[in-house]
Amino acid sequence: MNKTAFARLLMDWYDQNKRDLPWRHTRDPYKIWLSEIILQQTRVAQGLPYYLAFAKHYATIKKLAAAPQDEVLRLWQGLGYYTRARNLHACAKKVVAEYNGKFPDTYEELLKLPGVGSYTAAAIASFAFNEPVAVVDGNVFRVLARVLGIEHDIASPAGKKFFFEKANELIPKEKPAVFNQAIMEFGALQCTPVNPFCKSCPLARLCVANQQNLQTQLPVKLNRTTVKTRYFYYLVVRNGKQLLMRKRTTDDIWSGLYDFYLHEESKSLNTRKLSEKFQLTGSDRVSKEYKHILSHQKLVARFIEVTEINAKLKKQMDTAGLKSYTKKQVEHLPKPVLISRYLQDVGYLQ
Ligand code: ADE
Repeated sequence: MNKTAFARLLMDWYDQNKRDLPWRHTRDPYKIWLSEIILQQTRVAQGLPYYLAFAKHYATIKKLAAAPQDEVLRLWQGLGYYTRARNLHACAKKVVAEYNGKFPDTYEELLKLPGVGSYTAAAIASFAFNEPVAVVDGNVFRVLARVLGIEHDIASPAGKKFFFEKANELIPKEKPAVFNQAIMEFGALQCTPVNPFCKSCPLARLCVANQQNLQTQLPVKLNRTTVKTRYFYYLVVRNGKQLLMRKRTTDDIWSGLYDFYLHEESKSLNTRKLSEKFQLTGSDRVSKEYKHILSHQKLVARFIEVTEINAKLKKQMDTAGLKSYTKKQVEHLPKPVLISRYLQDVGYLQ
């Protein structure tokens, strides 16, 4: 494989096919970092409005660092993987407290920031500071696996290391920023996971997968994690127009977001079991089943609107930190999408 030809073809393709995206017009490490955190595990079409909202709301890293956590999570609402939002906030605080509000300008130093792994550190170091260090995300794994015919498992640490080394051999030292953007964009638009556009591909002549018809086999990804199903039973207690909610604090999903009193089961409960368990009366309403898919979990939830709570349950709720919130407060609290969906369905929120 001719390294120079590969880089040149890729960058020529990028020049002609790149999307006009706002973070491509800046060298400001704050804006680049913001875009990269938002775009992790997220498609550009979904992430773009969030990027614009964050950039508008928090024009500088100092503003983001000074914002209340609830506000940051609320702005993040709907993007999922909320650890990213908490790390985003923690990182902003750290940069302000320890680096005087200026992002560190090397890959090694960037790696020390919360939520900044090798991918994000490489993206910031190359896009903002032109450091020749390769970004390796899902798109890059795919392009390299196909073009070079690499059969290493991209889910294994050894496989990752191999791809990382290859990418760093291929990056042109004088144009790291463009090369990194180009290879990611190429994976997103041309060398797509399903039905890649090989007929119009400028790398087709060099590409091992194209020559040997291996496009569907590469990249190799083993150890797929199994998706676990969890059954959530939420007790929804209204207090006039107020609702009892609590902030989730454990290291489970949705830490920092607000939901209702939760009872969890590993199996689905039928109506009879539900009635027994929660001592439901005729006037308690049980919602339909809501299904909600997360990356490694599937949630099946029902919401039970209880009209009366007995002393024992009241105590359990107090211990679990349930508090009364007005409608206006509920509107502004950061909530999982599942909870917002339910509140909209019952007409509590718009
Ligand atoms: N996905 C992750 N980073 C990206 C970037 N800088 N441009 C387009 N898509 C991306």
